[in-house]
Amino acid sequence: MSQLKGNAIFGQSGGPTSVINASAAGVIQEALKQTGVIGKVYGAAHGIKGILAEEFFDMAQEDPAELDLLRTTPSSALGSCRYKLKKAEDDDTDYKRLLEVFRKYDIRYFFYNGGNDSMDTCNKISKYMQRAGYECRVMGVPKTIDNDLWGTDHCPGFASAAKYIATSTMEVYLDARVYDTGMVTILEVMGRNAGWLTAATAIAAAKGHGPDLIYLPETDFDLDAFLADVKRIYDKEKKCIIAVSEGVRTKEGKYLPELVGELTKDAFGHAQMGGTASLLAGVVKDRLGCKIRAIEFSLLQRCAAHCASKTDVDESYLAGKTAVQVAVAGGTDQMVAFKRAPGKDYVCEIQLIPLSEVANTEKKVPREWINAAGNFVTQEYVDYVLPLIQGESSPPMVDGVPRFARLKKVLARK
Ligand code: F6P
Repeated sequence: MSQLKGNAIFGQSGGPTSVINASAAGVIQEALKQTGVIGKVYGAAHGIKGILAEEFFDMAQEDPAELDLLRTTPSSALGSCRYKLKKAEDDDTDYKRLLEVFRKYDIRYFFYNGGNDSMDTCNKISKYMQRAGYECRVMGVPKTIDNDLWGTDHCPGFASAAKYIATSTMEVYLDARVYDTGMVTILEVMGRNAGWLTAATAIAAAKGHGPDLIYLPETDFDLDAFLADVKRIYDKEKKCIIAVSEGVRTKEGKYLPELVGELTKDAFGHAQMGGTASLLAGVVKDRLGCKIRAIEFSLLQRCAAHCASKTDVDESYLAGKTAVQVAVAGGTDQMVAFKRAPGKDYVCEIQLIPLSEVANTEKKVPREWINAAGNFVTQEYVDYVLPLIQGESSPPMVDGVPRFARLKKVLARK
């Protein structure tokens, strides 16, 4: 494969995670090292939107120490987007514009960091550039707290969110049991169509400080069965802790908040989630008449860098760095993925998956990892997730609070 000289651009897309910036650090620092092959390294403001608007930053202008701090800085430092590219056959306006920008800035390396929808974007751009005969190496860098990307053992971002969920659930468990009076607590966890993250509350249960019931989107949600489950436990214990995914649906396919109103949709047609726990809290209160608290982990679960998994931080960085190395060596049209080696000890290898295989395919929690009643997960899930949450990432602290990266974001304009 011939050496391809030119500039590189990196973008972040979709919902952030507490370690997505570790991948950004991996891409940017590795790309800056590739002198003689990669010239300028650009960071797109708000993903693909920034490229279309010619709004991107010259990453060489950043202080190297601040780039290092990206490893432990949550959220998407360059800004994110949820922007759906139309099929090029239907409307190629955006693609033509991207090609124009790529040509103008001699962009020969494109790295896109995101989940399902972002891999779809990455795939479409890769195929368009190929058809246009524009030589450009396109690599996907995975991320999503939802852990639902196909072709990889797990997704960067998931383990840190899982660690936070498990830890917070253990803490809430202790707090929710202090009074000798009755109380039901409902925890709501993100994950639109996949229950990987909600299932992480089972780690807390394995430690004796977890929920009594866990409901994932992978099984139909039956309100009567749910109320019967809660009543049975509450009648016996005077306490009941429930973990519910924001994405649980009735057998008719309706998210619970959809039963009481219409949901706002994003560019990909995904419903704006949230509110499932409060809705269920209302129903349980009516039925049992007990004290009840609904706790929505909401954004906290995907930006809790103080509770990130060191394994996740390191793998996220590695995913970014590897994407650059693979592209420079001639690889393109692929996503960096993880493959777990069989055996007792946790060993993960990098593998490369064609973008077309990843785009728009969701990986769900296997049905056999959910109990027959659909109200808890099995030990297989706990065995799967535990190695991923190992290690503490410890962001540097100043004045008792974390010191996050501060980027200058110097605009690159021609
Ligand atoms: O990126 C995945 C995710 O965090 C989902 O778990 C959640 O439903 C969604 O994003 C929320 O998206 P937004 O931040 O756009 O509301």
